[in-house]
Amino acid sequence: MWMKVQILVLLCFLVCDAYTLSVTLRNFLSNPSRKCYGVVFDAGSSGTRVYVYKWECRKTFSTPKVDIAEQIPEFKINPGIALFKDNPQEAGPSLEPLITYAKKIIPNDQLSWTPIFLRATAGMRLITLDQQEAILSSIRKTFKNSGFKLQKDEWVRVITGEEEGKFGWVATNYLHNLIRNDIKPQDTRAMIECGGASVQITFVQPTQPPINKIEVSFPDINTYNLYTFSYLGYGQDRALEAVIKQRIKPNNPGIVECPCLHSGYNNTNVYSEDPSLRVIGTGNSTACIESIASHFNVSNSCTDCSINGNYYPNIPNGMTIDGVSAFSLPAVFFELKDSSYTTDQLWSVTEGFCKRNWTDVVKNFGSTHQESYLRMECFTAIYMRELLVRAFKIQPTVLINANQKIGNVSVAWTLGSILYDMAQLECAPGTEDCIYNDNTTLIVAITVPTAFVTLLLIVAAIALVTAVVKTRRKDVLTTDGYYTSFDYQEMSP
Ligand SMILES: *[C@@H]1O[C@H](CO)[C@@H](O)[C@H](O)[C@H]1NC(C)=O
Ligand SMILES: *[C@@H]1O[C@H](CO)[C@@H](O)[C@H](O)[C@H]1NC(C)=O
Ligand SMILES: *[C@@H]1O[C@H](CO)[C@@H](O)[C@H](O)[C@H]1NC(C)=O
Ligand SMILES: *[C@@H]1O[C@H](CO)[C@@H](O)[C@H](O)[C@H]1NC(C)=O
Ligand SMILES: *[C@@H]1O[C@H](CO)[C@@H](O)[C@H](O)[C@H]1NC(C)=O
Repeated sequence: MWMKVQILVLLCFLVCDAYTLSVTLRNFLSNPSRKCYGVVFDAGSSGTRVYVYKWECRKTFSTPKVDIAEQIPEFKINPGIALFKDNPQEAGPSLEPLITYAKKIIPNDQLSWTPIFLRATAGMRLITLDQQEAILSSIRKTFKNSGFKLQKDEWVRVITGEEEGKFGWVATNYLHNLIRNDIKPQDTRAMIECGGASVQITFVQPTQPPINKIEVSFPDINTYNLYTFSYLGYGQDRALEAVIKQRIKPNNPGIVECPCLHSGYNNTNVYSEDPSLRVIGTGNSTACIESIASHFNVSNSCTDCSINGNYYPNIPNGMTIDGVSAFSLPAVFFELKDSSYTTDQLWSVTEGFCKRNWTDVVKNFGSTHQESYLRMECFTAIYMRELLVRAFKIQPTVLINANQKIGNVSVAWTLGSILYDMAQLECAPGTEDCIYNDNTTLIVAITVPTAFVTLLLIVAAIALVTAVVKTRRKDVLTTDGYYTSFDYQEMSP
């Protein structure tokens, strides 16, 4: 009896193992939507934000199809990494909370194949190259020890304004499902982004001369010829400071009048070059616009020019325009329909608001808006209109789409960055960089070890059966005194 149990257990092992193998394979084959992940850090001037993107693991080497139906997890810490310029070794460790956050989202067994990127923008462009390199190398060290895959040092670097514009353009168009091989490049959208420190404008312009031109190629989709330009110092925070700077009077130091802030506004900590400067609002939109125009320095005698005489071909007629970052702020604040506006519509809500005094504004909006943001709302609305009309010569009746999110996803250049970087990744199918990106590699990874274990068990089973047969024969002889036909054959010469 005991031996029968042994055989049963053995058979069970074999069957169970085969069952496990078949289930694993069946699950995998019937579940081609296995998810792969990528982590991107946006190291900006005021803080660092991490995004965890997810896509169906690729069957061939191609642009990943990032899943945008669900929310993309994101998490931000302050301050920006550029603040570590005097103690760079602390820059890497400062990002630990963001790494921990990303690890909670990604299955542990996939970490070593999950790429990790950090791209730094305007804040880092303003410190010296040596300081940048010290900060970046501290971050690379932290990333290498994080369990994620940092394939190359350049996965952690400072990007140019043009790259930021390119990635922002890719992100916007991807979210509108326009980065496809059945959509003509000229049917994509133009993207204008206004941050705190810089402004980027990017659109397809196949016929332009080779100035401010950048090519972006997705090998399996399309190649796009883009006009892109980044204006450092023309983001909304720097622009307000430029207006204030113009108006500082040498005979009246310590105090300045600013027409772009509401009348009755009276505070310090507005002007970062001199936080003690007292800024008094006068709420004069006409004067505010004059100051902005002077900061733009757009020549009227030049048709293909924008800010400071830089080459700018007009956005092609009929091309849809998306306004990103600060462009969405007036749409949210003034609750504009569909988060979109023409510059005429924008002015119709801005004009009256900017005339209201600060006491009145705080009384009506102070409970729902932080004062440091509230004081900017009038200026932001005026400034977005001036960028559109004066700098980029957009007609007052053209609709600007200014959604903060498309579906559930923030419109952020980081999405463009991961799509582009994954599409350029040097990764031959079957190599470790492509594991989980290539079905056949994964099947081999599951099948070979399991088959080996099965083989071992079969060998063990044969050995055991042989042993059992021998023992059983003895049993038969000693208990019954007869040879069974089976045993008889064994005993025959
Ligand atoms: C602004 O505030 C300061 C400090 O409270 C005060 O001394 C000054 O008179 C105010 N100026 C104006 C123009 O209201
Ligand atoms: C507003 O500024 C403009 C231009 O600087 C000036 O002509 C006008 O008189 C100012 N309006 C008021 C009410 O001060
Ligand atoms: C203003 O624009 C002109 C070109 O139109 C340029 O030569 C000049 O340097 C600009 N001024 C400033 C202050 O940038
Ligand atoms: C501010 O505006 C409100 C509403 O228009 C008005 O009642 C109030 O007198 C104004 N305050 C000052 C100091 O002008
Ligand atoms: C946003 O996400 C929710 C669930 O998280 C989902 O029900 C909804 O359909 C999504 N919206 C879009 C536009 O994808």
